[in-house]
Amino acid sequence: MFTDKIEAKDFPKMPKEYQDLLVRVIRIQADCEIGGPHLYVDRWTLRAATADEQWKVAKTAMEEIDHFRRMNRLLQEIGFDATDRLFVPKSERYVDAFRGDMPAWADWAVFGFLIDRVGQYQLDEFINCSYLPLARQLPPYDTQIIEEEKGHVQYGLLKAAELCRSEQGRQQMQEAVNKWFIIGLDMFGKSDSWRDERYIEWGLKRRTNAQARAEYLAEVTPIIAKLGLAVPDPGLGRKFT
Ligand SMILES: [Fe+2]
Ligand SMILES: [Fe+2]
Repeated sequence: MFTDKIEAKDFPKMPKEYQDLLVRVIRIQADCEIGGPHLYVDRWTLRAATADEQWKVAKTAMEEIDHFRRMNRLLQEIGFDATDRLFVPKSERYVDAFRGDMPAWADWAVFGFLIDRVGQYQLDEFINCSYLPLARQLPPYDTQIIEEEKGHVQYGLLKAAELCRSEQGRQQMQEAVNKWFIIGLDMFGKSDSWRDERYIEWGLKRRTNAQARAEYLAEVTPIIAKLGLAVPDPGLGRKFT
């Protein structure tokens, strides 16, 4: 297990495997950060029902774009760049969740409390990771990204609870949960991913995909049930084996 802490200046001296995994994981993170706004900015910024909600959509997008900027700066510091990810069509996003669309307001709510929560799990992996410039984006160094993600999750939950108060809203919520719950579980990646073990070995992640997914499942199942919604069968996910 690799226990050193690496600065940007040390990057060129690192083995190719470390370099590849680090660039890959930051690039995927950057793509996920900008993938969210592409799903909801056009659809909801000026169509959400109240000025408060429109403001919140815009603010969420601003925060995600900032998260992208931070990830991209990390790449640029070591001679890489993810600016191209600003402009790819949704169909080319690295992670399925960002290839779909968000036709109902319930999708926005569920996306917040399920998918932003996966985002938070992904970022948690980098806490105290071996690459210091990345670790410094997270607690105990910097709490902003994580706090903003928690805000997205909480706001999604608030909107979800509001929708669940009417029969029509609850139906829309159930449909959205059926869709995003499975997408969320699949976002953790394959349980038998060979890269998992390499990421952990190099101190770039803390948990395997399967461990993180199991923790997430244990966390969201009671939340969905408490909203009065049916919890979809997690076995419908495609990446468990
Ligand atoms: Fe984010
Ligand atoms: Fe977020």
